[in-house]
Amino acid sequence: MPEPQVKIYYKNVTADVIGAEHGITHKQLEALAKQTSPLIIQLNKERKAGKTPYRDLPYSKENPKRIKDLAAKVKDDCENLVVLGIGGSALGNIALQTALNPYMYNLDDTQRAGPRLFVFDNVDPAQLGSFLEWVGNKLDKTIFNVISKSGRTVETASQFMIVRQLLLDKLGPEGLQNQVIVTTDAERGTLRNIASEAGLKTLIVPDGVGGRFSVLSDVGLFSAAMCGIDTDSLLEGARDMDKRVSNEDFYKNPAAINAALNYHFYNHGKKISVIMPYSYHLKDLADWYRQLWAESLGKAEDLRGSEVHISPTPVKALGTTDQHSQVQLYREGPNDKLFTFLQVENFNKDIKIGPAPSCAPELDYLANKNLSVLFNSEKKATEYALLGSNRPCLTVVFPEINAYTVGQFIYLFEVTASLTGALFGINPYDQPAVELGKEATFALMGKPGEDYKELGQQIRSLTEVDNEFLV
Ligand code: PA5
Repeated sequence: MPEPQVKIYYKNVTADVIGAEHGITHKQLEALAKQTSPLIIQLNKERKAGKTPYRDLPYSKENPKRIKDLAAKVKDDCENLVVLGIGGSALGNIALQTALNPYMYNLDDTQRAGPRLFVFDNVDPAQLGSFLEWVGNKLDKTIFNVISKSGRTVETASQFMIVRQLLLDKLGPEGLQNQVIVTTDAERGTLRNIASEAGLKTLIVPDGVGGRFSVLSDVGLFSAAMCGIDTDSLLEGARDMDKRVSNEDFYKNPAAINAALNYHFYNHGKKISVIMPYSYHLKDLADWYRQLWAESLGKAEDLRGSEVHISPTPVKALGTTDQHSQVQLYREGPNDKLFTFLQVENFNKDIKIGPAPSCAPELDYLANKNLSVLFNSEKKATEYALLGSNRPCLTVVFPEINAYTVGQFIYLFEVTASLTGALFGINPYDQPAVELGKEATFALMGKPGEDYKELGQQIRSLTEVDNEFLV
């Protein structure tokens, strides 16, 4: 492990710092270590038995080769890469792009090492319509990467059907073959069938890997590789973190500490988990984390079938922006939150603040300071203020932001989700509650079948506007 490591700093959740009413005591931490240690062993065993295939993604030799080969084939003719997907089929792509490419990537050709990247993870006609107007006569320079494990996800399917027709109209069947790459199940599903029939290029969503655990597969790696991100370092970071999160010594295992503390604080009244990056580049990793947390941990039943209705509610805040929006509540509102800051030690760019105008000597204290010093001082200041109100604060420290450290972070939080799931005694790999909404949409959109007809009627009678209640 030659490179600097992402680490978790947890002193500021302890009773020594914020008092025993809200902080964790040594005794409680010891008890947690005892409770968590066998679960680390259990997870390692499950992983060896092939039950958690996401754990092995960073070791795949075939995936990176397949991705690089395809990227090399299509990159030269690609000015725009469009990802069509949702949830786990989009959030990782967005997070990697924001984390590892410059802020002006899409707008400034000199800052780009690949095509512009657009990710559509919604069905807002105004948004997609505006894009399609812009892309108009550049379709032959645009690759559409349609990502859906099932292929029947309504948002992705409808986006694909719009784009497919457009490509057929403008460029014909050959255009469709040239401009579309499908990422889906290796053998089954609607999208696999469509791809086979139309002769489309394909990538694979690995078997047994849920969307929110799939960013280190073809799902996230293809757009990353196309856009100049060092996918080898990303995977190396994940592999190195794997060694640390497999460590059976609780105190040396950052996923174990992270999971155990999240579990503890949820059980001690901190029902909300706020993640607060002090870095623009890390802001979309917070969105990725929200999904990972919410879909993995938010469960009605535990593994024994008892009703539990469990999970911290993940909330995203951005430093310093949300200091001026949320911190009033965070300090003086209910003490029901665990805070996790993401902090960067060395920014890959820095800017010196200029001198104060002579009419404003009160600003002299800022002159000639680096903006990064202000940024990190504000993180410390917010943490200090929260600690003063006895709020528990964790910090994930990034020595710097690069593909290697981002790979570490992703793997650390994926394994944290698995381990927190084990502590709660729930299945972190399914998402049964999302299904009803999906089925309801099918029904409202007229999917054939008696069941859908009935469901459609039920939804209409429940959601029809009753004017008596409309003011
Ligand atoms: O994490 C998950 O499993 C979900 O968020 C899925 O990624 C999301 O629902 C999209 O599913 P699909 O890839 O089948 O279109």
